[in-house]
Amino acid sequence: MSNIKNKICEKVVEYVIAKGAELTVDTAENLFETPADSKLGDLALPCFKLSKILRNRPDGIASDLANAFDGFDGIEKAEAVGGYLNFFFGKNKFLTDLKNLVKDEYPELLEFGKGKVIVLDFSSPNIAKRFHLGHLGTTVIGNAVRNIYKACGYKTFALNYLGDWGTQNGKQIVAFKKWSSRELLEREGIKELERIYVMFGKEAEKDPSLNDQARATFRELENGNKEYLEIWQLFKDISLREYTQTYKRLGIDFDVWDGESLYTDKMPAIVEELREKELLKIDDGASIVDLSEYNMPPDLILKRDGSTLYPTRDIAAANYRYNTYKFDKCAYVTSAGQSLHFAQWFKVTELMGKEWAKDLVHIPYGTMSFGGEKLASRTGNIILLNDVFDEAVAKARAIIEEKNIANENKDEISEAVGIGAVVFSALANGRIKDTNFTWEGTLSFDGNTGPYIQYTYARAASVLRRGEFGGDYSNHTPVSEETDLIRKLCEYQDVVIRSANEYEPSIISRYALNVCTLFNQFYHNCRILGSGGETEQFRLALTSATRNILGRCLDLLGMKRTEEI
Ligand code: ARG
Repeated sequence: MSNIKNKICEKVVEYVIAKGAELTVDTAENLFETPADSKLGDLALPCFKLSKILRNRPDGIASDLANAFDGFDGIEKAEAVGGYLNFFFGKNKFLTDLKNLVKDEYPELLEFGKGKVIVLDFSSPNIAKRFHLGHLGTTVIGNAVRNIYKACGYKTFALNYLGDWGTQNGKQIVAFKKWSSRELLEREGIKELERIYVMFGKEAEKDPSLNDQARATFRELENGNKEYLEIWQLFKDISLREYTQTYKRLGIDFDVWDGESLYTDKMPAIVEELREKELLKIDDGASIVDLSEYNMPPDLILKRDGSTLYPTRDIAAANYRYNTYKFDKCAYVTSAGQSLHFAQWFKVTELMGKEWAKDLVHIPYGTMSFGGEKLASRTGNIILLNDVFDEAVAKARAIIEEKNIANENKDEISEAVGIGAVVFSALANGRIKDTNFTWEGTLSFDGNTGPYIQYTYARAASVLRRGEFGGDYSNHTPVSEETDLIRKLCEYQDVVIRSANEYEPSIISRYALNVCTLFNQFYHNCRILGSGGETEQFRLALTSATRNILGRCLDLLGMKRTEEI
């Protein structure tokens, strides 16, 4: 909360208490609104919200309060209009705000998460398959949430929980031994692994005994068969080689690469604990936790043959993570299709009496289709992420050539803009909404797109390169384009905290677009360079503050800052 708003809140609380009613500063804070039009003031108190507790009419409260704020330090005037009390901050407030924004420091944010730890499990692909468009959501939403929490002062652990342990690995080993070789694998990479996996599916239809072989092979892998372990490690290395390249392109790194396989030896203790706490039930030979009381199907812990399952591993992993990182929050970013899985095993940890069960968070997102078509790996309708990136970069380059912008570093800028456009498209809307990816609109430089933000950032950076900035501007009286922009920029810390609380990067996306629109209005209506004297200094400061905030937003969303376009 800004300093001045804080003081206003305290004054309102004081007034309410003097009238014999009750109100806390925290509650008071949420009563305020920011008028859409700065002509109506910089902050407004809709007094009908106080009407009930004060047993008075809103317009009566507004005018009474307006008198109470007469001569109040830091505001120019408080005006009662209808049931609203509108505060005008006056020029000094904006000058002080601007000075703070130019510093590019955000102490309120750091305070928010001071001393806290968040573990984020995202991206987490199943090995031996290339990244496809379906992986985009978890990867970029997870990365953005991680950046947002980091900016909020949290200590973050980005975890890639590679899907490297399951019957599918048995299938891959069988297929490899039958139809492939080390040489082929080294040469073709994951593509070869995909080829033999598909082949396995087809062959197993003709000869179902292959499935039994795969299960037996996986069991032997679990029991530590040397040859199988070595082949499995090779699959993993080859997959990682390719994943790392994609992550590099996206500018994403992980702190921990503990895949599902790491938890094999941690599961027996969990199964034992479940048994001791009498939570396990035998159902048709399998061990389950009955969740009917909570309106959920049972959570499967052990199969009939005693082998473990996805939930078993997640429970063991969470337990291990708590012991290792002592997290305040442990969040999982996956498609909404896995919501039930998370709800079930979160419940199981609660029933086990784990004190950290309440700190587990599932961050689901909607499905991604491409040009209206659903993507499904089983039907072969896969769109590879690298292909999408390459095409986006080529399209960005064509626009850059055509518009004749960016003379130098064309490669670098096309890469930043192309990839940025794809990343932004996955972060632009509320994450739970289904997204239909289309090329139209994704790459344009003047729409609600990633390139529009990067372009505006570059515009601000370019003005600053050409201007000489650093002089005094305390005598400048801001015009409405300027105060509108400063007001928006001042919301930054609140916006980041809100997006953290809601695990919602689109709050940052929308905010950044708003900043761009206001900056471009200012840029077109107010001459910056050459306006002279304190006006020019003020406008350069405002441009610098905009660049700071837009740069921060790009960082948070996981897009590259483009100094020049
Ligand atoms: N590997 C899984 C998949 O591709 C996602 C893992 C999500 N994380 C977790 N702890 N379950 O669907």
